[in-house]
Amino acid sequence: GAPVQADISKLEPGQRMTVEWRGRPVWVINRTPEMIERTEALTDEVLADPDSAKPMQPDYAGGSLRSIRPEIGVLVGICTHLGCSPLFKPEPNAEGVGVDDWPGGFFCPCHGSRFDLAGRVFRNVPAPVNLEVPPYYFVNESVIVVG
Ligand code: FES
Repeated sequence: GAPVQADISKLEPGQRMTVEWRGRPVWVINRTPEMIERTEALTDEVLADPDSAKPMQPDYAGGSLRSIRPEIGVLVGICTHLGCSPLFKPEPNAEGVGVDDWPGGFFCPCHGSRFDLAGRVFRNVPAPVNLEVPPYYFVNESVIVVG
């Protein structure tokens, strides 16, 4: 499949956009400083693989934010359990995610897997690994190439 461009010049802090790459949705999230703070505060007590140490994670997907620029997250929007499309639930304590202390992230409605705003999977859910980070790079401040 051909690489695809994402123009993030109009992507406001806190928002998420989707581009299609190789027939799959790729999310680009503009994380606010507060969202970054919430994500970095999570520990391996709640996350199954906080540093993306498990196999199948690209090198640049390490660290708590799993991204080239701290505020811009790029993730394949497909649950690593059985491939459903997780919902964007960025607000703390958002409705419908089934936990009391939700820090914001993605919730898969199929079997209840939860991921943080960097796509890191929480403990005790069916999804075995973090959301995939696709290959990508920045052409300039506001254009990303995925692929
Ligand atoms: Fe997402 Fe099963 S497909 S939890």
